[in-house]
Amino acid sequence: MSEPKTCPFDGVLEVDFNSEPFLTQFKDVYTQIHASGCPYAHSTAGDHYAVASHPEIMSILKQYDIWKSKFGPGLAFQPEGSGVLVSVDPPDHTFEVKIVASSFSMAYFESLIPTMQQFVDETIDSFYKDGQVDLHSALSVSLPLFVIFTMLGIPLHDEQGDKTEWIRDGIFTTVGAMLKPGEQAMQEMMSGDIDPKHLQAVMRTQQMFVDHLADCKNKLESGEYQEATNIVCRFLTTPGPDGTFLSDEKILGFCAFLLTAGSATTTIMLSNIIYRLLTEPEEFAKLQADPALIPMAIEETLRLDAPVQGLFRTNDEDVDLGPIHVAKDTKVMLLWAAGNLDPTVFDDPLSFSLDRDMSKVRRHLAFGYGTHFCRGAPLARLEGDIFLRTVLKRLPNLRLAGEITAEKRMPVLQGIGELPVAWDVASRKPRRI
Ligand code: HEM
Repeated sequence: MSEPKTCPFDGVLEVDFNSEPFLTQFKDVYTQIHASGCPYAHSTAGDHYAVASHPEIMSILKQYDIWKSKFGPGLAFQPEGSGVLVSVDPPDHTFEVKIVASSFSMAYFESLIPTMQQFVDETIDSFYKDGQVDLHSALSVSLPLFVIFTMLGIPLHDEQGDKTEWIRDGIFTTVGAMLKPGEQAMQEMMSGDIDPKHLQAVMRTQQMFVDHLADCKNKLESGEYQEATNIVCRFLTTPGPDGTFLSDEKILGFCAFLLTAGSATTTIMLSNIIYRLLTEPEEFAKLQADPALIPMAIEETLRLDAPVQGLFRTNDEDVDLGPIHVAKDTKVMLLWAAGNLDPTVFDDPLSFSLDRDMSKVRRHLAFGYGTHFCRGAPLARLEGDIFLRTVLKRLPNLRLAGEITAEKRMPVLQGIGELPVAWDVASRKPRRI
């Protein structure tokens, strides 16, 4: 084991971000940190520090020359140059952004609206008559996966069957490891602690991307595919500012990153929105009376129930954070979800209210801030809008129909695992939008 880089400090809360008490009571922990007057936490288990205050997180994100992404957004030190976007600093980041820009434009996202609407409608058609469903697996999981696969140009269902289960197993395995130190992740792999089914799912996912990349190259060459056929074709045909193209490794990295960044996060957001509304009857009534509040319901849920708890930066030089001396190359977790509950920025931060000022709510950090601000945020919001609007229109008298369960396989993401809901089934054919 290497020497720890961090240590506990007087007045700095000690937190194990992988432990059961944190996973079940993380909002209490954030509230405690905010109330303590010291916005930092330390994890002996993970050998890292964490920052909870909104202004302090923003300040760190503005100091680009000190706080780097090059060792990756997770706790393990990723080899430099091995990742994409979130694991890259300018100027390499600027190069990658230029190439992926057209795949993250509003015009491209909006072109997906009819396909997304059709998917949501057909999915609801498939379970509508039952009068009840686990909305999480039926729609919150399937919609974001469908969208990412559509962008990539890979069918989610083909003659070999539905990929959802093993794709999800692969996501749980990779995202589940994000709060594990590199050494621990390696030990688990060597000692066989990781379920072989999950490892196999990761490998199967990688192979799917390798095959897809080869297929896109062949079809571009033969003229069967064009630049805009899917985002892999766009990556292959768009040069960076210096005229060179992304390497195959980078393109494969983009595919893997998009799958996790774009689906697991959005899935959590979708279920959280429904859960919030069904457990806050007064706010739900306001929304039903005024659907113009849908964007506010999405934003307020992102603020109060941020899907990503936090991600890491690494300092390029020794720095002091309040009482903490942070040695060069230390992992520090920026707690988006805690910044969103900072009482110095959001009044009554633990309450869910659709009466807030939108410009203030949108100061939330659920999508990060600055250079690495989420490029899929407009798409996630569109998915939320289509999902919520359609569910509310087509599933009248929507209500909870049992206990919800928490998803604990990915500590860096906090969300729902099962969301049983029921509605009143009309005798006539269900109405489409
Ligand atoms: C509710 C859903 C989502 C949440 C909460 C979320 C959250 C985040 C956060 C916190 C970051 C910042 C990472 C950092 O600063 O280290 C980020 C970056 C990113 N996200 Fe999202 N995301 C969501 C949906 C999506 C979707 C749907 C896509 C793509 C289809 C996407 C693509 C990206 C990309 C490409 C980046 C990297 C940006 C860069 O480094 O330039 N995200 N996301």
